[in-house]
Amino acid sequence: MKEDKKKVFIRTMGCQMNVRDSEVIGWLLHKAGFKLTDNPDKADVIILNTCSVRQHAEDKVWSEVGRFKKQGLSSKRAAPIIGIVGCMAQNYKEHIFEKSQSVNFAVGPQDIDKIPDIVNTLVKDKGLFERKIWETDGLIRPEEVYHTGFYEDKDHAYVVISEGCENFCSYCVVPFVRGKLRHRGHKEIIKEIKNAIKKGITRITLLGQNVNAYQSAIAGRKAPAGFIELLKMVNAIKGLKEFSFVTSHPKDASVSLFKAMNELGKLKKYLHLPVQSGSTRILKLMNRNYKPETYLQLAEDYRKIVKNGVLTTDIIVGFPTETNEDFQETYDLVKKVRFNAAFIFKYSVRPHTEASKLVDDVPKEVKQRRHGLVLELQKKISREKSNEK
Ligand code: SAH
Ligand code: SF4
Ligand code: F3S
Repeated sequence: MKEDKKKVFIRTMGCQMNVRDSEVIGWLLHKAGFKLTDNPDKADVIILNTCSVRQHAEDKVWSEVGRFKKQGLSSKRAAPIIGIVGCMAQNYKEHIFEKSQSVNFAVGPQDIDKIPDIVNTLVKDKGLFERKIWETDGLIRPEEVYHTGFYEDKDHAYVVISEGCENFCSYCVVPFVRGKLRHRGHKEIIKEIKNAIKKGITRITLLGQNVNAYQSAIAGRKAPAGFIELLKMVNAIKGLKEFSFVTSHPKDASVSLFKAMNELGKLKKYLHLPVQSGSTRILKLMNRNYKPETYLQLAEDYRKIVKNGVLTTDIIVGFPTETNEDFQETYDLVKKVRFNAAFIFKYSVRPHTEASKLVDDVPKEVKQRRHGLVLELQKKISREKSNEK
C-alpha cells in the first residue's frame, strides 16, 4: 500500500537547548505517525524551532517564513502548514500572527509535547487553522519529554539537567522565554544516561542555561546535591566514556568545581564561562554580579588547576553607554585571559529586559568596529593557542 504519512521538516535555530528540543519534537511526531524530512520543498508541515536571544536570530526566522510561503505559492502542492515554536513563540505570543499571515501555529518551549496533537488537528482542518498560542509558564516538563530514549547521534546524547534561568542579566530575554530555573531530579538524570548507554551512547553533554546552579534533593539529607555531586555521579556511570556541560555562570564557578573537573577522568576539560564585558561599570549595568578582577582570578585558577583545560567565553560589545574606555577594558581582559575561543556579539535590544529601558546609544558603526577589533584579537590568540601544544 502507498504510504501517505504527512512529512514534517524541522529547522533548529538557537542554542543546544533547542537542538535537544527539536530532537524531542521530531521523536514525538514520529511516534504520532508523521515522517521527518530534510527537504522543506517536500514537507506538508514546516516547524521552525526559534531563538529570541538577539534581533538577528528573529530576523532570520521571518525571512525563512517568507521563503517557505513563496515556495508554497509557486508550487502545485498545497501550501505547507507553518509553525513557530520555541523561544520566539513564547516571546511574542499571539502577536506572532499579527507579524505574519503565513504562520499557522505557535508553541512555547514548555508545551512542545502538545505539538503532535496540534499538527494533527491542523492537518485535518485544512484551511481552517486555529491561530492561537499554546504556552504555560514555568512548569517542569513531564519526565517522558526529557527522557524520550531517542537521540539523533549514534554515540552522543544531550541530557537536560535544568531549565530556565533567573539571573536576569539586564540584556537577556532567556528568563522571560524559558521561565524560572527548575532542576530535574538527579535520579531521573542518571537513569536517562544509563538507558542511553544501553543503546550505544558513550558521550553525554549535560544541558542547562546555568548548569552550575544545579540542585537536587537527597532523601534523608538536609543539604541537596549540588552540581559537583552530580558530576561525580555521572562520572561513576559504567560504560560512559566522556561527558561535558554547558553553560556556566561565573558567580557559580569555583575552585572546587575546577578541582572536580581536573579529577573526574571522564569529564572533558572544557569550560564555557561567559564574561560579557571587562568593564566594572558595564558589568554592573548588565547585572552580572561580579567584577572583572573576580573573573580574572577564576580564569587564572582554572588554568592552574585544570591541566590542559580549554576556556571559552561570550562577549557583548556596544551595551548601552559603553565608552571607548569600557571597550578597551574588555579588549585588555581578552588579551590577558587568552581564551581558546570567544563568541562576540553586538548588543541588540530585547523586549521585557531591564536594558531595554536604556537608550541603545552606541552607534551601529561603533558596535561594528569594536566587534571587529575583539574578533581580530581573539582570532590571533586562538591561532596561537592551537599551535601551543
Ligand atoms: N545561559 C547562557 C547563554 C545565554 S545566551 C549564559 O548565561 O551564558 C548566549 C549569549 O548571547 C550570552 O552569553 C550573551 O553573550 C549573548 N546575548 C544575550 N543577550 C544578548 C543581547 N541582547 N544582545 C547581544 N548579545 C546577547
Ligand atoms: Fe541570560 Fe544571564 Fe541567564 Fe545567561 S545567565 S541565560 S545571559 S539571564
Ligand atoms: Fe535562544 Fe531560547 Fe536558547 S532564546 S539561546 S533558543 S534558550
